[in-house]
Amino acid sequence: MPHAAAVAPPRVLNIADLRRAAFRRLPRAVFDYVDGGAEAENTLRSNVSVFDEVLFRPRGAVASPRASLDTVVLGQRFSLPFLLAPVGSTRLVWPRGEVEAAGAAAAAGTGYILSTLAGTSLEEVKAGSDGVCWYQVYLVGGREVASAAIERARRAGYSALVLTVDTAISGLRERDYRNGIAQLVAANPFRKLPYVWQILSRPGWLLSYLGDGGLMRFPNVVLPDGPMGYAAVAAALEQSVVSWADLKWIRELWKGPLVIKGILTAEDAERAVDEGAAAVVVSNHGGRQLDGVFPTLRALPEVAAAVRGRTEVLMDGGIRRGSDIVKALLLGARAVLIGRAYVYGLAAAGGAGVSRAIEILTADLNRTLRLLGCPSLAELQPSMIELPEGFARGRPAPSRAAPAGELVEEAADVH
Ligand SMILES: Cc1cc2nc3c(=O)[nH]c(=O)nc-3n(C[C@H](O)[C@H](O)[C@H](O)COP(=O)(O)O)c2cc1C
Repeated sequence: MPHAAAVAPPRVLNIADLRRAAFRRLPRAVFDYVDGGAEAENTLRSNVSVFDEVLFRPRGAVASPRASLDTVVLGQRFSLPFLLAPVGSTRLVWPRGEVEAAGAAAAAGTGYILSTLAGTSLEEVKAGSDGVCWYQVYLVGGREVASAAIERARRAGYSALVLTVDTAISGLRERDYRNGIAQLVAANPFRKLPYVWQILSRPGWLLSYLGDGGLMRFPNVVLPDGPMGYAAVAAALEQSVVSWADLKWIRELWKGPLVIKGILTAEDAERAVDEGAAAVVVSNHGGRQLDGVFPTLRALPEVAAAVRGRTEVLMDGGIRRGSDIVKALLLGARAVLIGRAYVYGLAAAGGAGVSRAIEILTADLNRTLRLLGCPSLAELQPSMIELPEGFARGRPAPSRAAPAGELVEEAADVH
């Protein structure tokens, strides 16, 4: 059959393929909510492109068997050195998206971090997973509302609390404004009208969304009049800024491990250690908050050097391949979190898509280790990478942003 190759179904080989599949299934406003970043998206782009600046120095003639990817984080053993990051509103992407993602993480032997801004109740998510789940806290709704959620998380069996400290106010995600997110979630149907074409052009998504009950609320943010509605989220975030002083009451309420997410400097890392954090996550929120901030891979060595092993160091941002994970581990991370990489999978095919994203990164990790001539994660050597001048040793140099337009071209490529 001469045309067999031409009619073969497209294969999902990498995360970019899942991203394209997500683009095809989701309305523009939902795709851009996941895919986009703050302002000019410089940090979003450089989070990804910074990995290209770090080059491998492999060892040849090493016969390594399939490497073990086991890792211990906060005393818990995971089969993989990456966990699923907290991502708000994944229920918009796929029906009960949080349950699907947590189930896929558990099946792969890794952990899932549930966002405060999830569309599914924390009890339901935990009940759907026999794996490790952590709960990410925003103080939306105020201290009493957050306390109630933390107490629920403890009772439901979440084993760590992740406090995100980089969201004093929501970043300006320009794509969301242009796509009319605020209008689409408004009660007045006339305000939605100019934007509904995006929704109608994705009937498959629309049917599943309606079947899942339509616009989600936030069942883990229970206000006096019930779960917080979607339209209230930006104002609620702004009114509920977390400060170091909050650590005191949170520590009194939560006796388990506390993870501080959103650390980018030695100064904040020191503070997190002083406050008794069991781990920090070097993160710039996937380039969604302060644009122009370091790509996280550049901030990682500074934070790792500052904490000097007193707390565990995790990182996230820009991870799209297993080789990116290896580079982050070599620069001081014990494990990483993946955000968009799994959400593209979720958007494309629900739990099966998340499993595919995990499978891709796992296969990448195995292949990278074997090609590096490294039999296991524990045997990774700093000399297996070469860093550009000014990178890593000590304080990171200012970031070199990727050329403008890079991601725009990539986005064009998914049409
Ligand atoms: C759509 C979206 C929603 C997010 N929501 C949250 C959230 O509710 N809480 C939080 O701590 N981080 C949130 N993040 C940030 C992620 O936890 C993580 O830091 C980021 O996605 C990592 O970058 P990556 O997507 O390039 O992997 C969100 C990220 C995305 C893409």
